[in-house]
Amino acid sequence: MKIILASNNKNKIREVKEILDDINVDILSMKEVGIDIDIEENGSTFEENALIKAREVMKLTKCITMADDSGLEIDYLHKEPGVYSARFMGHDTPYDIKNKALIDRLQGVEGKDRGARFVAAIAVVFPDGKEIVTRGTMEGTIAYKPCGTNGFGYDPILFLPEYNKCSAELSSDEKNKISHRGKALRAMKSRLLMIEEK
Ligand code: IMP
Repeated sequence: MKIILASNNKNKIREVKEILDDINVDILSMKEVGIDIDIEENGSTFEENALIKAREVMKLTKCITMADDSGLEIDYLHKEPGVYSARFMGHDTPYDIKNKALIDRLQGVEGKDRGARFVAAIAVVFPDGKEIVTRGTMEGTIAYKPCGTNGFGYDPILFLPEYNKCSAELSSDEKNKISHRGKALRAMKSRLLMIEEK
């Protein structure tokens, strides 16, 4: 099975290839199939945005296409920044500023009320109209101050009580095993295997 990945993000492409390595699929990036488009992510959920991207690239390639969308949900902020995680306070604002702003908005909020999670949705769209969407989460709380230098984005402020560490204090191998994207991808892998077996 050949699958186009609607992304040019090298880390995502590597992670998808690693997780799907032991099943019979060939992952091709948009660059590898000569597509260079910017798709407006105007859905109101991670699932909708992943589907929007996968449908758009499938229309152009007529091939099975996979896309993802992810972000940080903070319960106390009614799930903000959510689907706006990348755009929150502007695309180009450094994450140390975004992270500090979010911690500041939780001043006086304690314990479990600081609940938050990374969410990832993965969509696969087939030329015959079939669509599969999976979701994975990485549950935690918002740290009282940023910790760790690994990872990217909001990793320094998602505290993982189970590990007594922030996500940015995990090595990439440790994070991949428990990450929202890893879980959504492994769920997608099971669904794809079921199709292959039919
Ligand atoms: P996208 O899925 O590439 O659109 O990314 C959404 C945004 O969510 C990223 O730019 C980050 O701000 C945030 N995000 C998603 N996953 C992670 C993660 O694993 N660590 C830190 N931030 C993340």
